[in-house]
Amino acid sequence: MRHPIFAANWKMNQAPADASAFIRQFLAYFPRQQDRTVLIFPSALALHAVAEALKDRPDIQLGVQNIHWEDKGAFTGENSAPIARAAGAKFVLVGHSERRHVFGETDEETGKKAAAAIRAGLTPLVCVGETLAQREAGETGAVVIRQLRAAVATIDAQHIASSLVAYEPVWAIGTGKTASPSDASAVHAMIRAELRTLTGERGEAVPILYGGSVNRGNATALLAAAEVDGLLVGGASLDAEGWAAIVRA
Ligand code: PGA
Repeated sequence: MRHPIFAANWKMNQAPADASAFIRQFLAYFPRQQDRTVLIFPSALALHAVAEALKDRPDIQLGVQNIHWEDKGAFTGENSAPIARAAGAKFVLVGHSERRHVFGETDEETGKKAAAAIRAGLTPLVCVGETLAQREAGETGAVVIRQLRAAVATIDAQHIASSLVAYEPVWAIGTGKTASPSDASAVHAMIRAELRTLTGERGEAVPILYGGSVNRGNATALLAAAEVDGLLVGGASLDAEGWAAIVRA
């Protein structure tokens, strides 16, 4: 049994002072636990404040929500993987549905970002998921596998095996509609099979998180579903007490 992974995606919320206050509150609710991994993805501008607030809790790790695929250069407004790493990030979200659907990020760009993360020593958390129209058209499996393959096409098998994947159906993100545990399991099983194809035995070890309207009421059931190794949580990770309840699921 893998240790469950709980990842908080704060999106464009929590300024540095709010983020520090949140961490102080959260730590009071969540004493160190060896049997689970907690990741927090704050705004890049709050990363330093969160790292400071977590300096006595190395069990909780940090990531950024996005990177550019180049390591440095004239890309105004962007952050690179080496800069994120130097600022204290160990993880990075790659291919989040808001990057794909709000900012028009392509499969190819997602792949370049995953490769940039690996080059810099960051662990990519590759997000995949279908839209409602794609689900209704019976395309869920094809979309998810296409996104997964594109994201990992530029990574060797060894590094794929040390990455993370999140299945986040677009129709479930921020909508209050959650995939049922059995729907999530079915897609996770397809992802697992593809990871085995891509990396052989090592594909077994890649954690596959579920994300999309996870809250303290549904976290336990989703986490208990077959092939669900953790949860990626947006809205419900913004409340320290509620987030602590999810992390203790
Ligand atoms: P949500 O977001 O939990 O608010 O649905 C999840 C995500 O976008 O990672």
